[in-house]
Amino acid sequence: MSEVLIINKQADKATQYADLIPQLKGLITGETDCIANISNLMAALKQAFNFLWVGVYFVKDDELVLGPFQGPIACTRIKKGKGVCGAAWEKQETIIVENVEEFPGHIACSSDSKSEIVLPAFKNGEVALVLDIDSEELATFDGTDHHYLNEVIKLIESVI
Ligand code: SME
Repeated sequence: MSEVLIINKQADKATQYADLIPQLKGLITGETDCIANISNLMAALKQAFNFLWVGVYFVKDDELVLGPFQGPIACTRIKKGKGVCGAAWEKQETIIVENVEEFPGHIACSSDSKSEIVLPAFKNGEVALVLDIDSEELATFDGTDHHYLNEVIKLIESVI
């Protein structure tokens, strides 16, 4: 495992993601512990893009429970269907929110969050966790993020 991430912050977003994904694969190679791997993946995403908040919520019984994350302290439990995370779990699909103030029921863990993307990860055909990323800017996330973060989801699904 390399201890240094090599990211060209001058490059466009797609290039930065494309450069990052193989390094993320390297990060989890040789380690089997789920929490250790997800922790490093969250740290790498935070380091690469300096998002406000990057983390996962695990499905535990009838709610989501906070897992490894980087960023400000966050709410620990979210009910199915609640907030962006609970909606992504319920719908079993990625949700991109350009302006969190316009998302009905958005849960504001940080008042600095302006836009958000939440992607579900599956195990045995069911949502096992959601990956949640918050930005301090409006409309940060688009199809490029969706595409490459799906690659991150595949890495997460390989370790859960
Ligand atoms: N905003 C999320 C809650 C989690 S925090 O952003 C970390 C939501 O509406 O589900």
